[in-house]
Amino acid sequence: MTRETQKQAAAEAALDYIDWDMVIGVGTGSTANYFIDALKKVKNKLDGAVASSVATAERLRKLNIPVLELSDTGDLPLYVDGADEATRHLHLIKGGGGALTREKIVAAASAKFVCIADDSKLVDVLGAFPLPVEVIPMARSFVGRQLVRLGGQPELRVGFTTDNGNVILDVHNLEILNPIELEETLNHLAGVVTNGIFARRPADVLLVGTETGVEEMTT
Ligand code: 5RP
Repeated sequence: MTRETQKQAAAEAALDYIDWDMVIGVGTGSTANYFIDALKKVKNKLDGAVASSVATAERLRKLNIPVLELSDTGDLPLYVDGADEATRHLHLIKGGGGALTREKIVAAASAKFVCIADDSKLVDVLGAFPLPVEVIPMARSFVGRQLVRLGGQPELRVGFTTDNGNVILDVHNLEILNPIELEETLNHLAGVVTNGIFARRPADVLLVGTETGVEEMTT
């Protein structure tokens, strides 16, 4: 199996979590796109979807799946999204596509978070993938200096603005041994909107596409 077919297999396995009359949360990125494509098969079961990005909303609309606002739906039964890194504790790094803040909101508002990934995303320790941090533009340099103090090497994602009008600092060289603590520390820096560690609210289910099929892990 190639990486792409592994992503697709994990995405299709997530369809099993969809029940009749659900409004589900849908994530962002290439693996989430495979999930959206797979939704064609079951879209008559859905009452609608909440998108974690403008790009995902557009893709859902093309399938004629109603895109709803989280403020109107209330909490959701299910959120399906990819990840840049995942551990067997189901802690994640997300935000490679820059949608981390809306992804974290939808994950927080969902009863079940099913993460879908190919097996290159599975790691023992988070941090080889540069950690995305969404920052209010005027705080870019200030937050950058705090990130250096914490041992990271922040790099501005040049030419990129988030759906919320902010910038992203990708932080290199972090070995994230205590993800819950670092997630909280970073979120307390003035000017940080959120960071891409998903450990306080980890995934509930991780579906990993492998050479031999889809492996399911739960907390
Ligand atoms: C977007 C994300 C994505 O889930 C993450 O970047 C994985 O993307 P892909 O499925 O393309 O590898 O967090 O903000």
